[in-house]
Amino acid sequence: MAFPITRLRRLRSNSITRDMMRETTVSAANLIMPLFAVSGTNIKNPIPSMPGQYQMSIDLIVEKCKHLNSLGIKSVLLFGIPDHKDETGECAAHDHAIIPETIRAIKAQVPEMYVIADVCNCEYTTHGHCGTLVNGDVDNDSTLETLAKQCVAFAKAGVDMVAPSDMMDGRVGRIRKALDDNGFTNLPIMAYSAKYASAFYGPFRDAAESAPKFGDRKTYQMDPANSNEAMREIDLDIIEGADIVMVKPALPYLDIVRRAKDTFNMPLCAYNVSGEYSMVKAAAANGWIDEKRIVSEILLSIRRAGADMIITYHAEEAAQWGIVK
Ligand code: PBG
Repeated sequence: MAFPITRLRRLRSNSITRDMMRETTVSAANLIMPLFAVSGTNIKNPIPSMPGQYQMSIDLIVEKCKHLNSLGIKSVLLFGIPDHKDETGECAAHDHAIIPETIRAIKAQVPEMYVIADVCNCEYTTHGHCGTLVNGDVDNDSTLETLAKQCVAFAKAGVDMVAPSDMMDGRVGRIRKALDDNGFTNLPIMAYSAKYASAFYGPFRDAAESAPKFGDRKTYQMDPANSNEAMREIDLDIIEGADIVMVKPALPYLDIVRRAKDTFNMPLCAYNVSGEYSMVKAAAANGWIDEKRIVSEILLSIRRAGADMIITYHAEEAAQWGIVK
């Protein structure tokens, strides 16, 4: 049936029918808030390239978690900035390293908060690469060992989920084995499966003090031109035991999000990364856009593309503004 019998405007004519036929929703339960932990007390260092985001000491992270929880944001993703870096990133894996300490504090004081820890070496290495260097290149297999140690240390501290973001081959399998060998058979892995070598991570590297001191991450993160390869990455992570797979960044890769959902029908996360956040903040600060409406549209677009959950620096504000239910 075509016009004039069919008129799509009939169901758009009032908010009740618009609400009735809305296909996509975003709930606070879909959102994960990233937080950056540093040592000390009462420290809140603004991150200049990410207005509204801070490096925070553990006491303030705990306060932030209480507030997020009151807003209905039920999970956080932790990144750690250590006092001292080393060559391999092993410093991340000690009982008293920044992330295990942060995990224990949150679980003790806000036990209902679901704590996810990012697992990577780039914040912890002197050179800023995501693994151990051998002859100037990131060595895959020795890096798997430091990642596995990190995961076990986080698990012992009580983390709810680990999220490896390093893009080494075989890391999901290695981490699964390490967790299982240590009795953490029920701890889920959210794999940053299709993670692209993206300029959209620029502001994050200021936040996490993790920019590579030489070269780039193109030998381990994916080429932005590739889609088939993303499916291979996701497929391998599923075979190795990933519980959730991720596409990152989100907005320039929504085609990958949709293809991943259609191809694998796995629980799927998309990371609305720092550069995507900062562009919105910069435009909003200039009065060029309506930030609330823009963020609402962005979150909807990522869910509509097929993501079940979204990691976003806008999580707290989205809940505060009432643009998610
Ligand atoms: C660590 C990591 C990065 C991000 C998440 N985990 C940076 C990178 O790969 O350089 C980026 C997050 C963001 O930009 O918001 N490997």
